[in-house]
Amino acid sequence: MSKAPKIACIVDNAVQPGSRLRGEHGLAFLIEIESGRVLFDTGQSGAVLLHNLDMLEIEPASIDALAISHAHYDHTGGLPALLGPARPGLPLYANPDLFRERLSRRGDEFKSIGLPLAQETLRAQTVLHMSAEPQQILPGMWTTGEITLRPEPMGSSPHHMIREGDRLIPDPYQDDMALVIEVESGLLLLCGCCHAGLLNTLSHVQRVFERPIVAIAGGTHLAGTSSNHLQHVGQTLLEMASLQRVYPNHCSGTAAFHSLLLALGPEIVRPCPAGTRLDL
Ligand SMILES: [Fe+2]
Ligand SMILES: [Fe+2]
Repeated sequence: MSKAPKIACIVDNAVQPGSRLRGEHGLAFLIEIESGRVLFDTGQSGAVLLHNLDMLEIEPASIDALAISHAHYDHTGGLPALLGPARPGLPLYANPDLFRERLSRRGDEFKSIGLPLAQETLRAQTVLHMSAEPQQILPGMWTTGEITLRPEPMGSSPHHMIREGDRLIPDPYQDDMALVIEVESGLLLLCGCCHAGLLNTLSHVQRVFERPIVAIAGGTHLAGTSSNHLQHVGQTLLEMASLQRVYPNHCSGTAAFHSLLLALGPEIVRPCPAGTRLDL
C-alpha cells in the first residue's frame, strides 16, 4: 500500500508559536506523496517563502511541480524568487484565466494585485499546464478545475475588480481552483482562497470526484462572512459524515474558525499556521 501523503503549511498569516518561521498575509502548502513533491501557492513574498522552505529543510530544486490556486499576490508573490533555485521546466498547473489583470479598488485608487510575472516569463521558465478542467498533477493528486456551479455565496471582496473592455467589473474569480489529494480514507480538499465559495467548491469536488471528503485545509475566505452564513457552513460540514479534519487558515478569519470549532469540535477543527503538518 502506498504511503500516506505528508502535507505541511509553509506560509500562512500566522506561524507556529516558538518556530523560526515567518508569517505574512499569504498561503503556501507542500504536499509530499510517493511520486513527488508539489508546492501549492507561493505566499506573498519570495523572502518569506524561501526562508520558511529553508527552515523546514526543503530544497526548492526538490519540488517536482507547482500548482497555483489563483492569481492574487498573496498566493503568487513568491513565484519570481522561487523560479531561480527551482528546477528548470518546473510543471505549473493553473486555470487559463490566471493571466488576467486583477485590481483592487479602494475609493479612487487602484492597485494591481495579480500575477507578478508576465505570461512570457512564466512560459520561458516553467512548463505550463493551464486548464479549466480537473488535471492530474501526480497519481492521487488533482486540481479541481474551474468551480463552475456556484449556487452558494462566493468568497468575494467588493474591492476585487477586473477589466472588461473599458469598464471595471467585479472579479468573477474564474481562475479560482483548489487541490484534491487522495488520503487513506477518502479525499482532502486543499484550498487557496476559496473565492468560488467553500460550499460551492465542496459540491464540485463531490460531484466530479465521487469519493468522500475526509478533510479540508487552507484558506476558506470566510472572513467578514455573516454569522448566518457561518452557521450554515458549520451545519453543512456537520452533516458531512465522512469529514474528520478541518484546518482553516489564511483568509478564513478568526470568527469563522471559532464558529466551525463550536459546530464541529476541537477533534475536527484544528489551527493551521505555517509549520503545521496535517494529521490526517
Ligand atoms: Fe485571493
Ligand atoms: Fe488569499
